[in-house]
Amino acid sequence: MTLMERDEQLRSAAGYLEEASAGHGRLAYVAGEAGIGKTSYVAQVLADARGSARAVVGSCDGAATPAPLGPLVEMLPALPDHVWPPGATRQDVFARLVAVLRDPPGRRPYLLVVEDAHWADEATLNLVRHVARRIHDCHALVLVTYRPEDSAANGLRLLLGETASAVGTRRIDLPALTPSAVEALAAHHAAARPGLAAVDADRLYEVTGGNAFFVTEALSADTDEVPETVRDAVLARVARLAAPARRALEVVALAGTHPRVELVAELLADGLDAIDEPVRRGLLRQVDGDVTFRHELARLAVLGEVPVGRGVHLHRRLLAALESRGADPAVLAHHADGARLADAVLRHAPVAAVRAGELGAHREAVRQYRRALEYADRLADPARAELHWSMGYECYLTERIEEAIVHTREALDIWEASGETVRVGDAWRCLSRLSWFAGRGEDAERQADVAIDLLDGSPSVELAMAYSNRAQLRMLASDLAGTRTWGHTTLEVLAGSRRGRAGTRCASTP
Ligand SMILES: Nc1ncnc2c1ncn2[C@@H]1O[C@H](COP(=O)(O)OP(=O)(O)O)[C@@H](O)[C@H]1O
Ligand SMILES: [Mg+2]
Repeated sequence: MTLMERDEQLRSAAGYLEEASAGHGRLAYVAGEAGIGKTSYVAQVLADARGSARAVVGSCDGAATPAPLGPLVEMLPALPDHVWPPGATRQDVFARLVAVLRDPPGRRPYLLVVEDAHWADEATLNLVRHVARRIHDCHALVLVTYRPEDSAANGLRLLLGETASAVGTRRIDLPALTPSAVEALAAHHAAARPGLAAVDADRLYEVTGGNAFFVTEALSADTDEVPETVRDAVLARVARLAAPARRALEVVALAGTHPRVELVAELLADGLDAIDEPVRRGLLRQVDGDVTFRHELARLAVLGEVPVGRGVHLHRRLLAALESRGADPAVLAHHADGARLADAVLRHAPVAAVRAGELGAHREAVRQYRRALEYADRLADPARAELHWSMGYECYLTERIEEAIVHTREALDIWEASGETVRVGDAWRCLSRLSWFAGRGEDAERQADVAIDLLDGSPSVELAMAYSNRAQLRMLASDLAGTRTWGHTTLEVLAGSRRGRAGTRCASTP
């Protein structure tokens, strides 16, 4: 496919790659609404750079709560082995990646593409931030595609602001196609299908606004009427498929943004032949052993039409197939939820949450805990309390202080009912700190005292933390003598305490 009206932007990328080859790395944000042509543009940049750069692509997942550092995990096979050794911390991995970009084998520059950053997990955004600040002395061009209209939800917009002035940061805007490009596409389409009535190109531009996906989808619908919306355009094409092909589309739509062919094959009652027709008609694509929709907008249009019962059934089958393949817990939690299987959600979502939290994807950790808590009424008290406690901590880390208070209080109530004094005391200490963050200083002081009263008696890490909390409150009130006194008491208790429990962490520094 020849790209229309992208010469200038392709020249920019080629220029940045040249600079990158000379050791002046660049990170360029490629901006444009859904369907404008970001993926097509990046594919062209990659094709143009073949031979002169090492291409590495990783995509963010918009189908489920994303797995932490998903794009980097996808890139690993194309990167040197030592970038992510087992057990390495996130900071270590980031540093190792930058070291590779600074000094690539043979000085052949890297061309890294992070697709759809508006769906990035928090850890991936941190990675982009880390790289953006260091790219200027790397032998690498990093392209980060995103939709401006969706960039607020995950914190990407903030990141764009923070990194805009970094030395190596650039921006490439992809505009909609002009009326003359739309006319040319319509004419090209009409020439290829002489029997059909020609589409009114003015009307096509008016309805699509020059959005490349919408234009090409509307043309492929092969009607002389221009569909009113992208969804109509997609569904008009789908309606013309045979029943097995339509069912296959539903399976692919539910299976995620780029499921493996063999997974799809396992789920298709009519066999893999069922995807032949959608592939032939350009609705689906097979790329590197994956089956994908031509575009996410098409996947969403199909997904929206899947009857609820069939969706649940397909999620169950997907869950079973993916469990046996040892898929990422974030993916398993997504299908377990879609399958409405409480036990499976409670098996996978907390694991996904812990992993997300460990890698710094705290927003995703919150989403996984929230998902687990929806099914938590069937859990025994101790497990339910732990879920609330962990959720409280992740809410605190993501600045959802009121929510953190609610969940910490839930955990506290459960522990109180079962007489777990140490946990209760620790929860009061935690609530005290959260109250302070919420601007309720008096509550914070009172709760700090309750924590100490409950924990007093035997030296423990929890008691030390309760004193430390009081010392901090004194410090925040500019009471230096009080700070010193309670600080000393904290150290004395610590000196005589047993080793700490892993659970003692709420509202401490991450
Ligand atoms: N510059 C272009 N000229 C012609 N068609 C284009 C152009 N860019 C994209 N397309 C068409 O639009 C479709 C959607 O583009 P895509 O790159 O997937 O959009 P995005 O990644 O921005 O959502 C492509 O499959 C292609 O058919
Ligand atoms: Mg795209």
